[in-house]
Amino acid sequence: MTERRIERFSFIERMMHWLAALSFLYAALTGLALWSHRLYWLAAVFGGGETVRGWHPWGGIVFTLTIGYMFQNWARQMKLDREDLQWLRRAHRYAIHDDKDLPEANKFNAGQKLLFWVQSVATILLLFSGTVLWWPHSMSQDFRLLAILIHPISAILSIGAIIVHIYMGTAAVPGAFRGMIQGWVRPEWASSHHPKWFREILKR
Ligand code: HEM
Repeated sequence: MTERRIERFSFIERMMHWLAALSFLYAALTGLALWSHRLYWLAAVFGGGETVRGWHPWGGIVFTLTIGYMFQNWARQMKLDREDLQWLRRAHRYAIHDDKDLPEANKFNAGQKLLFWVQSVATILLLFSGTVLWWPHSMSQDFRLLAILIHPISAILSIGAIIVHIYMGTAAVPGAFRGMIQGWVRPEWASSHHPKWFREILKR
């Protein structure tokens, strides 16, 4: 900790996060183009139907690898405990900035943890169903039908979670975005949003 600056995310964590964001955006937009003829115009933006069909799965692979990195890096800190469940029951208070009765957050609050697990499960489902759709002719009819059902459902889950995440990381929690760009936050930000984590840092 330097004076009035606390490291929140390392360089590699930030690189992997923004690679996740870019690959997610690419996979989500090209996936929407392939999914619905009403959104097929999106394919033109990304080089046409053939290009999109060829590269969409690779966007998904890059995204999966970045999620794999985040998983091995943060899974331990993302475990939900009893206080987190209390936090989630009162999450509506957090949304209206009335957090005095909420249990104190550690490095990540319960909402962030929940989104992390939703995203991890959705990514696994996307990977397996996406692999079936990548090589449909080598798969059985049952697998194909299951994949056609699971792939868009898990994509919608994932896109929904990310929309909430982007809103929280930009408009709802000022100061958080700088942590993911420059890697540091102010002590006042840390003590008000993540008091347990802040106290741990002071002890180091
Ligand atoms: C594209 C727009 C995105 C923006 C603006 C954004 C913003 C942020 C910010 C500001 C943080 C730091 C929060 C804090 O310090 O408490 C963060 C953390 C994180 N981001 Fe993103 N993010 C984006 C996309 C993504 C994507 C696509 C993923 C992958 C699923 C992702 C996964 C995470 C995870 C796992 C964390 C740590 C836990 C959390 O804060 O929720 N982000 N993001």
